[in-house]
Parts: sequence; structure tokens; C-alpha cells
Amino acid sequence: MIQPVHPNHDSEPPTPGAHRRIPLADATATEALGGQLAAGLRPGLVIYLQGDLGAGKTTMARGMLRALGHAGKVKSPTYTLIEPYALSRLDLYHFDFYRFEFPEEYLEAGLDEYFSGHGVCLVEWPDRAAPHVPPPDLVIQLDPAGDEREATLDARTEAGRSCLTTLPPLPAPPAANS
Ligand SMILES: Nc1ncnc2c1ncn2[C@@H]1O[C@H](COP(=O)(O)OP(=O)(O)O)[C@@H](O)[C@H]1O
Ligand SMILES: [Mg+2]
Repeated sequence: MIQPVHPNHDSEPPTPGAHRRIPLADATATEALGGQLAAGLRPGLVIYLQGDLGAGKTTMARGMLRALGHAGKVKSPTYTLIEPYALSRLDLYHFDFYRFEFPEEYLEAGLDEYFSGHGVCLVEWPDRAAPHVPPPDLVIQLDPAGDEREATLDARTEAGRSCLTTLPPLPAPPAANS
């Protein structure tokens, strides 16, 4: 059987600016990245914060909230499911679904309303509410790297991609020796 050939599709590069990897040497660096991303937050954005327990998800959320002008505590929503913040520029809802035993608990808790509004939704442990939790514009994955962490940012929509444009540009690759 003759296979159709689509060389352009096969070699299509990933959308520019949709994917970034950033080393985070300590918790201050994690907060600082959150602060940089805060500048790109827009109403209605859904951001998944992924990574194991202790990966730095809540630390990243704290950095965003501080940069948006929240001066008080940033509590982990592990027990409350949601911590809402009314900030001067936007509303932000911080979720943590770690304690869900069944994804349907997301529906029972009536949380869908938050996702259909104008707030920014930051979600820790979104997989525990899948497939009910709405899909993300941006996925922030945090992984251990020795005592440090590495963030992988993956924009899934145009809105997510424009959030990443607020980050400093990547360092230029080293010049090739001639
Ligand atoms: N880049 C980093 N390097 C080392 N430790 C970090 C880093 N980012 C955060 N931490 C620390 O990791 C611990 C867990 O952070 P937390 O944000 O509560 O994790 P999670 O919400 O993912 O469970 C905290 O003590 C925090 O200070
Ligand atoms: Mg947490």
C-alpha cells in the first residue's frame, strides 16, 4: 500500500515559545519564577501545577500571589480544596485536589463554577479530578533535580503561550567556532 507522505507535517517544529525548561536552585528561585509568570496572567487562565508532594507547587503559587500584591499568608489548599484571592488586578483561585479519592468529588464540590468565571485557576493535583476539571492553558511541571528543582512550562493554548512571553528570553546559544 502506498503511504501518503507529508514531509512538512512530519518535520513541523513545536510552536515557538510554547515550551520552556528552567532550573530552580532554591525556593526563592521558585517564587521568583512565579512572580515573573504573574505578569502574564489574564482572566480565565487555567494553570496546572504538577509534581510530587514537596515539589514546590505551593511555593510557585505563593510567588504569583506576592507579585500580584497579596501580602498575607498563602495557605496550602490541601484541606480546604480552594483558597480564593480577590486581588486588585484579578481574582485568583488556588485549588489542591490531592485529597480526592474519586474524581467525582470535584463535581460534588461544585467547583466547576469557578472555572467558568473570570478568575485565574491554579490547580495542584489536577489529575485527581480528571476528566472533570477543565483542560489547562499552561502546565507547570516541577521535578526534583538533586536538592534543587527543574520547572517545565508547557503552553497548551494561545493564552498559555502569551503568558510565557513575559519571561526573560532564553540565553543565546554559544556562537559556533569557525
Ligand atoms: N527550587 C527549589 N529548590 C529546593 N527547595 C525548594 C525549591 N522550591 C521549593 N522548595 C521547597 O520545597 C518544599 C515544599 O514546597 P511546596 O511548595 O509546599 O511543595 P508542594 O506544594 O509541591 O507540595 C518547601 O520547603 C519549599 O521551600
Ligand atoms: Mg502544595
